[in-house]
Amino acid sequence: MERLTIATQPIEGQKPGTSGLRKKTKVFMGPHYLENFVQSIWNAIGGVAGKTLVLGGDGRYFNDRAAQVILRMAAASGARKVIVGQGALLSTPAASNLIRKNETDGGIILSASHNPGGPEEDFGVKFNTPNGGPAAEDVTARIFEATKTLTSYEILEAQDPDLSQIGATQLGGMEIEVVDPVASYAALMEELFDFEAIRALLGSGFRIAFDAMHAVTGPYATEILENRLGAAQGSVLNGTPSADFGGGHPDPNPIWAKPLVDLVMGPGAPDFAAASDGDGDRNMILGRGQYVTPSDSLAVLAANARLAPGYSGGLAGVARSMPTSRALDRVAEARGLDIFETPTGWKFFGNLLDAGRITLCGEESAGTGSDHVREKDGLWAVLLWLNILAETRLSVQEIMRRHWGEFGRNYYSRHDYEAVDAARAEAMMEALRARLAALPGQEAGTLTVAEADEFAYHDPVDGSHSEGQGLRVTFEGGARAVFRLSGTGTVGATLRVYLEAVETDPAKLEGDPQEALAPVAAAAEALAGIKAHTGRDAPDVMT
Ligand code: G1P
Ligand code: ZN
Repeated sequence: MERLTIATQPIEGQKPGTSGLRKKTKVFMGPHYLENFVQSIWNAIGGVAGKTLVLGGDGRYFNDRAAQVILRMAAASGARKVIVGQGALLSTPAASNLIRKNETDGGIILSASHNPGGPEEDFGVKFNTPNGGPAAEDVTARIFEATKTLTSYEILEAQDPDLSQIGATQLGGMEIEVVDPVASYAALMEELFDFEAIRALLGSGFRIAFDAMHAVTGPYATEILENRLGAAQGSVLNGTPSADFGGGHPDPNPIWAKPLVDLVMGPGAPDFAAASDGDGDRNMILGRGQYVTPSDSLAVLAANARLAPGYSGGLAGVARSMPTSRALDRVAEARGLDIFETPTGWKFFGNLLDAGRITLCGEESAGTGSDHVREKDGLWAVLLWLNILAETRLSVQEIMRRHWGEFGRNYYSRHDYEAVDAARAEAMMEALRARLAALPGQEAGTLTVAEADEFAYHDPVDGSHSEGQGLRVTFEGGARAVFRLSGTGTVGATLRVYLEAVETDPAKLEGDPQEALAPVAAAAEALAGIKAHTGRDAPDVMT
């Protein structure tokens, strides 16, 4: 086995975004592209000599071959050991768990999350640090810097090791331990939740459906929900991971998981349904006749977490990303919990979780999680919901009614304008940014602006500062519109407009969200001129 030093040149644009580096699969498959980025990770973290890493991905097209390249590069650079999920598969939360449980030096996750997969679609590479979480901004900045000066990378010339069998093998001087991707994660879930209570619920005729969307959570959900908790066989839908996610878009929202929404809204609906995304860190929660927005789900979980054994001691504090609705704030206020508002992206929760300042956190983009790992965790959210349902024996709809009755309802929707011309999207943001200071007191449609600013975050744990994290406008009466450009898209710019309106009138708690938000949407249009700037009449996706 020969160790090769391959001469290369910096490749432009290898800047990690909200969650690692995401590009078209073909870009990643181009000459030196993956290798350059991986070597830059090694260089940014002081090399991998003597280190132990975790490696796995969501099984999308190119996952297997990328994993082999990374193993040969780790071996060439002197890594001691790499723990790999069987078949190079690991859900993102399971990878985070393995990084932590084995006290490793971090890991590499191959995923573009909820983006479609395939030769014409998306691929991604993300580095997680020893705490199990996505690399913080100082590390991703160092990786990007390293990509700009790279002149060579190290790789072993070797046959592909067999990743299909559980057990230990060698590659050069490096150990490869192929592990069952599910076992350690399932054991962690058994520690946190009352499996007996959930088993009793599922044994009482309570029916569930879990849509794995042809992605990585299939094996996890089948083992945990069907095998361990006794959900009826067939409760897990689309449970076999496929390289192109069955040709679908593995994003658990009412658009891309419409069949599941139709199922709970139709006759013979199950009592509870959920879906997860490509790499298993997102979740969508549904009950019979009820869609639960991610922001509401986060608030419900925070209000009821103590019903699960892992959280029976209460919560240290909670956090949400800035655009996430303030339903969580109402729970925190009522329960006297500390609450933090962070920029978009899970990496910003890491310090708060590590420091023990928060136990639970989440984002409006279908991400919820806790201090059990350092990633959001789709199945964890499903199990916490099931644990709460098992303890209360209420329906999902009843839980929501009671929650809104107690805390009020934050009507919420996100409007996405996808693949907008990047310059036009920037121009819209720039124009609004320039007007922010002058907005308070101005009328926008039927609303009056109360405050307007560009969100910046001062991390209370390490003192770091993150600027430019979204434009937010709050209106008198508590409604809010937030404007942000996505950091995960791979084509042009994606404009996200986040709309929220607060309702405490008991007679108005069960309205249609888009109707309740119409005045906020109109105000957002009046302030930002979305149509004129983007040339779009309507959003592509409303969640
Ligand atoms: C999106 C979501 C964000 C999430 C990220 C990774 O990022 O909005 O909440 O953390 O995906 O899953 P964005 O495309 O908005 O930058
Ligand atoms: Zn994901």
